[in-house]
Amino acid sequence: MSELILAVESSCDETSVAVVKNGSIILSNIIASQIKSHERFGGVVPEVASRHHVEQIGYCIQDALAEAKVKPEELSAVAVTKGPGLVGALLIGITAAKSFAWAHGLPLIGVNHMAGHICAARFVQTIHYPALALLVSGGHTELVYLPSEGTYEIIGETRDDAAGEAYDKVGRVLGLSYPSGKKIDEMAHKGNDTYHFPRAMLHENTYDFSFSGLKSSFINLVHNAQQRDEQLNENDLAASFQASVIDVLVEKTIRACQEYQVQQLIVAGGVAANQGLRERLQTATKTMLPSVELIFPPLKLCGDNAAMIGAAASIEKKQAHFSDLTLNAEPSLAFPLHKKAEGL
Ligand code: KG4
Ligand code: ZN
Repeated sequence: MSELILAVESSCDETSVAVVKNGSIILSNIIASQIKSHERFGGVVPEVASRHHVEQIGYCIQDALAEAKVKPEELSAVAVTKGPGLVGALLIGITAAKSFAWAHGLPLIGVNHMAGHICAARFVQTIHYPALALLVSGGHTELVYLPSEGTYEIIGETRDDAAGEAYDKVGRVLGLSYPSGKKIDEMAHKGNDTYHFPRAMLHENTYDFSFSGLKSSFINLVHNAQQRDEQLNENDLAASFQASVIDVLVEKTIRACQEYQVQQLIVAGGVAANQGLRERLQTATKTMLPSVELIFPPLKLCGDNAAMIGAAASIEKKQAHFSDLTLNAEPSLAFPLHKKAEGL
């Protein structure tokens, strides 16, 4: 009999509900984006996000079941993002999922949002272990080692800003609307790396990242130019910024794949949509890691969505990791550190 999971995601600014079959087939994936409401504030306003989730969650559940043509009694479990994320936003999804699970007598599975981003790869390809994931989103930049199914260990992470956050902050300085990663990526393709920003921690013996120095260099350059009334080439600025981010991400990821002898490299999170990053990683893996399979989730599954939560939940279900109705939001939920990273 097939496994049908109803999955709920509400950790940030997307209310999403999906029905996922056998952990790897999407029957529906409803995404109600709030981006228009947050755009004018230049970032996500937590209180506004919670209010939108409350309004949307009921409709999203109805639509997800209707589109999948699945009745509640046919479901095997209800999964929900328990963290990391905005506490108020998480609680809306958790409360809805708990209520639905209780009303229909279904098991409940709490899912780590970052495991969800990684498991979006399951819609493209079966994950073979050991694997490595480069997780790059608005809130996170992590290299995650997956020795076996359902085990996620951090070997490196950002010490300050996340990659997506850096894109959004420099985008603001350029007067771009939030989130600005996609626009900077497009501009970068029309420019050249003429400004040569720093590549933080590139040659240090750590898989950790740092993007705040790059962000400050960028902002200082733009402000100094404004004071002197000098014109900067915005496409070159975007290309120079992007080259710095990609150089560090690619170099450290390739090094980690070699050290951990992985079979697959999964790139996930909103910044995995970056065309420059995709191109560079494709070339680097082909030449330096011919035996490593590179997996990018499809663009529409790189951002926050509930289907990825269903894919991760299916692994938790196999391992009988269920939650009870005391399930609570864990805003700072994090993967454990890998042994070697603990001492860093
Ligand atoms: O994973 P995500 O949808 O949300 C979370 O942060 O969990 O990631 C959103 C981030 C934003 O910072 C956005 O600017 C960035 O992903 N992003 C991109 C691109 N598309 C989205 N960054 C660089 N290049 C892109 N093409
Ligand atoms: Zn996310």
